[in-house]
Amino acid sequence: MDKFVIRGGKGLRGTVQISGAKNASLALMPATLLAPGSYTLQNTPQLRDIITMSRLLESMGLGFKHSDHTLSVDASHVTKFEAPYEHVKKMRASIYVLGPLVARYGHALVSLPGGCAWGPRPVNLHIEGLRKLGAEIEVEAGYIRAKASRLKGARIVFDVSSVGATGNVMMAAVLAKGTTVIDNAAMEPEITALGEFLIKMGAKIEGVGGNHLVIEGVDELHPADITTIPDRIEAATFLVAAALTGERGATVRVERCNPNHLSAVTTKLEDVGARLTYGPDFIELQPPNSIRAVNVTTSIYSGFPTDMQAQWIALMARAEGTSVVTDTIYFDRFMHVPELARLGANITIKENIATVMGVKKLTGATVMSTDLRASASLILAGLAAEGTTEVLRVYHLDRGYESIEKKLQGLGADIRRVAGEEF
Ligand code: UD1
Repeated sequence: MDKFVIRGGKGLRGTVQISGAKNASLALMPATLLAPGSYTLQNTPQLRDIITMSRLLESMGLGFKHSDHTLSVDASHVTKFEAPYEHVKKMRASIYVLGPLVARYGHALVSLPGGCAWGPRPVNLHIEGLRKLGAEIEVEAGYIRAKASRLKGARIVFDVSSVGATGNVMMAAVLAKGTTVIDNAAMEPEITALGEFLIKMGAKIEGVGGNHLVIEGVDELHPADITTIPDRIEAATFLVAAALTGERGATVRVERCNPNHLSAVTTKLEDVGARLTYGPDFIELQPPNSIRAVNVTTSIYSGFPTDMQAQWIALMARAEGTSVVTDTIYFDRFMHVPELARLGANITIKENIATVMGVKKLTGATVMSTDLRASASLILAGLAAEGTTEVLRVYHLDRGYESIEKKLQGLGADIRRVAGEEF
């Protein structure tokens, strides 16, 4: 397993290019199960999770060719309708094959994803939504077994707005007979991107981008090509890094992003004291002279993303004063806090609320990655710390940040990957 060795204190400046959105690609790829033929997915990020999804879909008969950031998919043949535990345990998004398989082939066997490093992550809404569409679903021996002759349109009101359940049910409803209405649908840009892709494939969906979707099922779909939207979490992570460790008086320019997807984070960065300039596909950030303490509460899009909570805590660890960070999406998602404490951060947790008392300095130490976004927060804190920080188990980062160390080196950070030893 690789580790990162960071010598903190270098001021960041320069330009960084953002990759395609992991969470959009992970929904677009299984959507190719819905119609036979060839697809081209441009701007697909080069990430471990994308390889995991390719392997899963390959095990079902699909073919993939990765060339730079273009992913060519051959979905002419689907020969297996199963997502075994060995794939799903590596990545929860594997559950996205359930809706397309049951809609097009009438059966699917998909392992239950189980929990996550930061707690339970149920899939009841995926199952209930597909049942409403007429699928017979049994859960036994750790697997979801779904059957249907042809799904039928239905009215679905999600109790909780769920990205994954909305994506899964949407992919099933596009081939159902009749009309499906989904209320309290997720409005995250990655779900909007999926909806737009399905429309390109011939689906009839109204309300894409909103929380009320009306889907008129069609008999068949056809392949389509798409350019994946930029990764808003990667962009936001670099903006927070710039606010935390940007060189005074200099700017960090985050390019190939969509500023409209980032407003929950950018307005908070303005509150912190950073100066931001916006272009059509870039944001420039000048760091504040001192970091003001700013509270955040995570919520569904267009609120502050839970996937930025850990990085925000790293920023607040160096703020002037005390801030309160509340996660309303995942109550236990605070694995990074004890690791940040090893660097000198002063944070207390009560239920889903972190109280962060800003400190004058962080000091380098050895810390452990526990999950993707927690790892990103440790990198940011390491960049801001005095001395050397070693971040172990960086495979978590490789799941969701493309070449993060190279992109940070491009901004002047002193970070290197030490490969291939047992850490
Ligand atoms: C997706 C993202 C993940 C992000 C999360 C929230 C992907 C591949 N992953 O995950 O990075 O952190 O959205 O923005 O896109 N819930 C239920 N029952 C369900 C499903 C969800 O109760 O069947 C609850 C969850 O426990 C959570 C909330 O709904 O509290 C939102 O979760 P959801 O949007 O489903 O997250 P994911 O799609 O798994």
